[in-house]
Amino acid sequence: MKKAQKLVLDRLLHPLRARTPWVRPVLPLVPEDPARATVAAELLHATAVLERRGQWHGEWADLNVQLPDEPQGVDAFLEECVARWQRCEPVVLQGCFSEVVEQAQEWLEDRELLRERLSEPGGLREWLFEQLDPETGFEPLQRARTLVDPERDIEKVRVAAGEHELWLKSACLSTYPDDASLRLRTSFGTEGEDDASRDIQRHRLVTELAQTLFPEAALVLEDPFLRALLNRATGMDVLATQHIAYWNAPQGGAQMHHDAFAEDAWNDGAFRQLGVCYVQFTGRTAWIAVSTDALCNAVREFAALLRAGAMPWVSQVVDQHMLSLVDDDERLRTELALPGCGALHALVERGPEFTNLLAERGHAFLLEAGDGILLPNRGLHSTCMHSVWCAGDEVAYSLSMALRPDRAAPHEDAKAVRRQRRLTRKDRS
Ligand SMILES: [Fe+2]
Repeated sequence: MKKAQKLVLDRLLHPLRARTPWVRPVLPLVPEDPARATVAAELLHATAVLERRGQWHGEWADLNVQLPDEPQGVDAFLEECVARWQRCEPVVLQGCFSEVVEQAQEWLEDRELLRERLSEPGGLREWLFEQLDPETGFEPLQRARTLVDPERDIEKVRVAAGEHELWLKSACLSTYPDDASLRLRTSFGTEGEDDASRDIQRHRLVTELAQTLFPEAALVLEDPFLRALLNRATGMDVLATQHIAYWNAPQGGAQMHHDAFAEDAWNDGAFRQLGVCYVQFTGRTAWIAVSTDALCNAVREFAALLRAGAMPWVSQVVDQHMLSLVDDDERLRTELALPGCGALHALVERGPEFTNLLAERGHAFLLEAGDGILLPNRGLHSTCMHSVWCAGDEVAYSLSMALRPDRAAPHEDAKAVRRQRRLTRKDRS
């Protein structure tokens, strides 16, 4: 084996690096990397330049490398996926939805045009009136809804579903002028307060509405492997709901966050949100996806490097107060669960240094059309955190769906639940 190839293999088999079988490994590419030329010439599947709203996070190499001792066969793959789910690690499903993408081709051709239509006020209403004829059982309503976030929200339209009311909302991902990213949420109730609602009847209506508008969503959930995996991992029938259609454009993406709610305090776990399923239909996205446990370890490792005098230019933005937080595990988890990762924002969002460390430790993935990722979740302090970039010049279209138990929750004290939700309000992104 050539010396440079061995260097790459040594990095991939590093004892501190997380292994994700059946998934192409990603390494950060830095200019001084002695293996850079070998990676580019012999092992490369693709590269990704990570830039989000003007902030550069580095460059990655997505590698065609088969590591030794990988388990073989579908059963072993299923077992591994279930184990990862239970540890709140990302379940990366590269190529699992290639057939879905093929079957959905006729709808996918219109999705970029749809993004353009939805980016203008009035575009969502017009599209819904075209799509939802009376036979669908859904009726768009005329009266406009007030926008919660006038800076980013574009339009919100109510939709009648029998005696119930649902809504769709188009929104920009940011106010950054060169970011053309857009998302379309389908949900019900009051934004924030009802995001973690356990109302299974309205969740099922949301599923039906989203699958009417985005038939590719139904194809995903019909996939036998995904169904078997979710059934094994959760032990229950799972409903995909609160769909978000995402168009991640160059400069777009999402900062490090989670999609969890503080439900464990008021929920026995049998009715809470279980996680999120994300499927890439066009384009490419780059991900850091990492369990809370592994993110805590990476933060501590990075803090130790800074304390030892490494990267003095980073120490200028990551102050001593921030570093002192990492010694208390509970405080660290609490901060990471806050919007923007709380007081640790500057450390966690530090690119390319911290992003590179996470990639070097095996938490980076590139998703292409036909790939998916499951982000399991057990509450605020144990979930799968993630950070996303558009990887390429093309706008990347995807669907994100919340996974919930497909069964009715027992009657609950509505006032107490509203109070809890106010404390834990969070907008999934
Ligand atoms: Fe998310």
